[in-house]
Amino acid sequence: MSIIKLNATDSTNVYLKELALSQQLDDFTVVSTELQRKGRGQMGSEWLSDKGKNLTVSILKKLSAFHVENQFDLNCIVSLSIYDVLHELTVPNLSVKWPNDILSGNQKICGILIENVLKGKLIHLAILGIGLNVNQTDFQNVEKASSLKLLLGQNLDLDELLTKVLDKLKSYFLISREELKTLYLKVLFRKDKPSTFKDLSNRSFTGIIRGVDPSGKLLVELEGGLLKPFDLKELKLLY
Ligand code: BTN
Repeated sequence: MSIIKLNATDSTNVYLKELALSQQLDDFTVVSTELQRKGRGQMGSEWLSDKGKNLTVSILKKLSAFHVENQFDLNCIVSLSIYDVLHELTVPNLSVKWPNDILSGNQKICGILIENVLKGKLIHLAILGIGLNVNQTDFQNVEKASSLKLLLGQNLDLDELLTKVLDKLKSYFLISREELKTLYLKVLFRKDKPSTFKDLSNRSFTGIIRGVDPSGKLLVELEGGLLKPFDLKELKLLY
């Protein structure tokens, strides 16, 4: 396994994807950077991270016979890996907010962006992008964000954290789909609790998160008992 350490790049996801498409790389090759100039977040958002303070990495997973229909398994694998590492560090009140934000209480400490390279209907390469807030303490520009330093009161070593994340990832790639789903649902934020959401037209509605369907959509029980699947564009969970 190799780790490519950069001082700065636009996005580790983009860097790793371009490299993986232009040459043969080992499975679990890592690109990490001190500074991301155009860090990519979910739904076209930007991921901001102070230089050198946080884990800003992309990890390559080479896949064979991994159907794109099962792509949500990758979200489960990465979020459970981070969850476990943070749990072992005694980070309080951890959960995974669908699809893959890692929260402590209602503060986000890690964002995950998975970008896949397909060959037909199969995922050939998965770029697992992880932005974990570690030693940054000022989040003026980001709402509801926190870091391990703020939560645990100490600086942590970024290389040690990366090693722990890689070990967990490797083990989660070995477990069954059923087990993955069960473990994911156990840590899912606000599962079985009445919650408020916003829909596409910014209207609020209430419902209860009951799970995730096979394609990775969030299953919300609406008033009257109807179970409706939503994708990321279709709803925003408020609380
Ligand atoms: C989110 O919006 O929550 C996802 C954020 C993902 C950020 C990470 S940082 C390393 C990797 N490279 C990127 O450009 N984005 C991901």
